[in-house]
Amino acid sequence: MPSPPTGRWRDHFAGVDLPVPVLGGDTVTGINFDNAASTPPLKRVRDAVTAFSEVYSSVHRGTGYKSRMATEAYEQARERVAEFLGVDEKSQVVIFVKGTTDALNRIAAEQARLDGRQVLVTEMEHHADLLPWRHRSGHIMVGLTPDGHVDLDAIEHALHNSGGKIGLVAISGASNVTGFISPIHEVAQLAHRHGALVSVDAAQLAPHRRIDIRDAGDPGHLDFVSFSGHKMYAPYGAGVLVAPRDFFAGAPEVMGGGAIRIVTWDDTVWADLPDREEAGSPNVIGAVALGVAIETLVELGFDEMLRHEDELGDRLLKALSGIPGVTVLGGPDSRRGTERLGLASFVIDGVHHGLAAAALSHEWGVAVRNGCFCANPYVFHLLNMTKEAVEQVEGEVAADHRQALPGAVRASLAPYNNQAEVDRFADAVRHVARGELKAAYEQADDGTFAPAGGWPAILNPLKMLAGPAS
Ligand SMILES: Cc1ncc(COP(=O)(O)O)c(C=O)c1O
Repeated sequence: MPSPPTGRWRDHFAGVDLPVPVLGGDTVTGINFDNAASTPPLKRVRDAVTAFSEVYSSVHRGTGYKSRMATEAYEQARERVAEFLGVDEKSQVVIFVKGTTDALNRIAAEQARLDGRQVLVTEMEHHADLLPWRHRSGHIMVGLTPDGHVDLDAIEHALHNSGGKIGLVAISGASNVTGFISPIHEVAQLAHRHGALVSVDAAQLAPHRRIDIRDAGDPGHLDFVSFSGHKMYAPYGAGVLVAPRDFFAGAPEVMGGGAIRIVTWDDTVWADLPDREEAGSPNVIGAVALGVAIETLVELGFDEMLRHEDELGDRLLKALSGIPGVTVLGGPDSRRGTERLGLASFVIDGVHHGLAAAALSHEWGVAVRNGCFCANPYVFHLLNMTKEAVEQVEGEVAADHRQALPGAVRASLAPYNNQAEVDRFADAVRHVARGELKAAYEQADDGTFAPAGGWPAILNPLKMLAGPAS
């Protein structure tokens, strides 16, 4: 099988030309279409992490040279994030967190600040942008348009009818299931008009679109923005929460060293932001990696990269939509560039999503994701499932029959992907849709599929990566 040609952006990313084993003992250059789950590092980020390891030390309180250097790099990373999003640091604060899930849970932990008011969510949300609200403040969930787009009228209606009981509107900037991009500034305007704040889950948006937080006085201003470094070519464990400075007033959710000015035998004086929200030793390497990733994307030409991604996304949608038996969730309409990421989830008539994903990996060396993508209500909506059908599935899954869970296959692109990969992928899906599988597969109790007899073993990966100790 020929290797895909090197694309303009490809050389900047680590690990994207890895030979992977496929059925029959051959190897092929792997295709990674699972970027919505996590991305490889930019080579510059990887190298910066290695270089930074030489000067790494604790931040903020050390007087040693390395400590001052590490502190400077950590704070510069914060500045890069602020510049990238257009944050006015007088009114908002950039807090380094573990990732989007952590960020959203931290906002939810401050529910007291919403004065008992509820959070409005859409049916589109990832579980990270649903469960923290559901299990703290309680939420109101608004429906979507039939093809799965954000329904501004439904949001306005819910805000209007709540009589001021909604304190926050939580919305994903872009869906990890359909790639649909939400009208975040319009949603912000509606929220503000009704006395609520807006929180954008930008896990998928930040790596694939420019975000402008806008001035605090602008009705379309974004109050909270959260995203993850590992989805943005800096997989070293750091993410970002941007929040209004005055939101964090009381004791922080996570307490410990670094978050205080003074602690006496029975009193605590909390530090200023962001320190108050970054208790404990922060993930300095992760934050620095994220800062370097942002700097690199901007220097390489983020807008041009995104145009390339959009072209690939169009090609992907067109190819998938033309395969008999394949249905793209949310429809095949790409609405070029503005409203959809380079991402498509699809179902194949008569082929279980898990079986398709296993065959794509085992026979074609293509990495995709399958299932419900941590967005169960949205996938149920897109699959047109009735309430009764969902209840039946719920009963089965609760009884540990996880094979019952429906789902789809997702291909998600990044700038290092190229046309040859999209074409090879479409070819592979065409074969799978025709039922032309070369191997036999078995479904396990947890619902996943594997080649009969199991996946080829990956022996001792830690030792292999670490190499000899001397
Ligand atoms: C839309 C969306 N929100 C939130 C998350 C959670 O991000 P993380 O796992 O980095 O916390 C994801 C991850 O897939 C996502 O796609």
